[in-house]
Amino acid sequence: MEQPKREIILSGIRPTGNLHLGNFYGALRKFVQIQDAHDCNFFVADLHALTTATDPEALHANVKNVLAEYLAAGIDPEKATIFVQSDIPEISEMYLLLNMHVGIGELMRTAAFKDKARKCLGLSGECDDSDEAFEHQIIGGDTNKRVCAGLLTYPTLMAVDILIQKATKVPVGKDQLQHLELTRRFARRFNSFYHVDLFPEPTDFDFGGAPVKVPGLNGSGKMGKSEGNCIYLIDDPKVIRKKVMRATTDEGPKEPNSPMSEPVANLFTLLELTSTPDVVKHFRDAYADCSIRYGDLKKQLAEDIVAVTTPIRDRITDILANEEYLRKVVRDGAERARARAADTLAEMRQIMGIRPL
Ligand code: TYM
Repeated sequence: MEQPKREIILSGIRPTGNLHLGNFYGALRKFVQIQDAHDCNFFVADLHALTTATDPEALHANVKNVLAEYLAAGIDPEKATIFVQSDIPEISEMYLLLNMHVGIGELMRTAAFKDKARKCLGLSGECDDSDEAFEHQIIGGDTNKRVCAGLLTYPTLMAVDILIQKATKVPVGKDQLQHLELTRRFARRFNSFYHVDLFPEPTDFDFGGAPVKVPGLNGSGKMGKSEGNCIYLIDDPKVIRKKVMRATTDEGPKEPNSPMSEPVANLFTLLELTSTPDVVKHFRDAYADCSIRYGDLKKQLAEDIVAVTTPIRDRITDILANEEYLRKVVRDGAERARARAADTLAEMRQIMGIRPL
């Protein structure tokens, strides 16, 4: 009897540094949960990393690190296809083709672009759609601080990663949902422009509940490599304890059942991810009746994080020492990913009129 077709899942992480708890809870841990039941494809987005990373040696080392971190977190190359983005040259060609159907305006309005472009230009603070000074800086500003075109077309490349594999489900953290929305828009546009049904419209993988946003340790915002507020999977226990003990808090609740400030709410979010429900309840009750001591909360949180990361850290070290194994994993993965990518690209070329004479 023919097996029912398994849903195609795809997701990637940029090798811009070691992976942190945000990547782990927002992405990696979910990848592991779904690899048994689906056709899973997980890759290292090294071409995307080029939009911000400029040190070739660091990039190369980080590709290996992220691969080792995938495997150490439990992604199994026998179950999922694991590959490096740049090993699939079809992606670069399709990126060129798809870009012909993407508007500069819609790319410029992307929140991630605005945020990263501001950082490139050395501008701070939030901006809105009507920020003319910002647009002016991008187009006519100081050429030493240029915003690279690759940053603008980042969503095209991400759409290509997804569409070239005809993936229908994309497990990502909350920060990537706008890119996924653009991917759907590009797929729809291509299909309707050429009157074809080439690309499915991918959606976020529904794990039930709200999408995860892991906060940083510095009181506000998400944990992020460029924010300096991370706990890395590779951090040793001493470093983790130090980072957690230094996390921002406030002066403590003055009245029973007071609302929580953002820094304290963030610590509770981390506790919810890493601790057991009774530990969380214990500290929530202590907060509610004003008996909480943040030092105790932090000590507990640090130990719970250490318990999560230590086995992963040990495996990362072992896997990194076995280069032959890493090479085999990505060779096999690239072979599988390329086969499907080549088929999609051939269809796309045909549809767009890029055909042999
Ligand atoms: P990247 O490398 O920024 O992050 C990788 C994954 O980790 C998630 N993540 C978080 N989740 C929760 N809380 C956080 N603090 C946090 N920080 C990071 C991200 O949501 C993401 O799922 N554009 C992507 C890489 C990419 C991709 C793709 C993803 C390229 N092509 C195709 C899916 C499909 C990115 O920059 O992820």
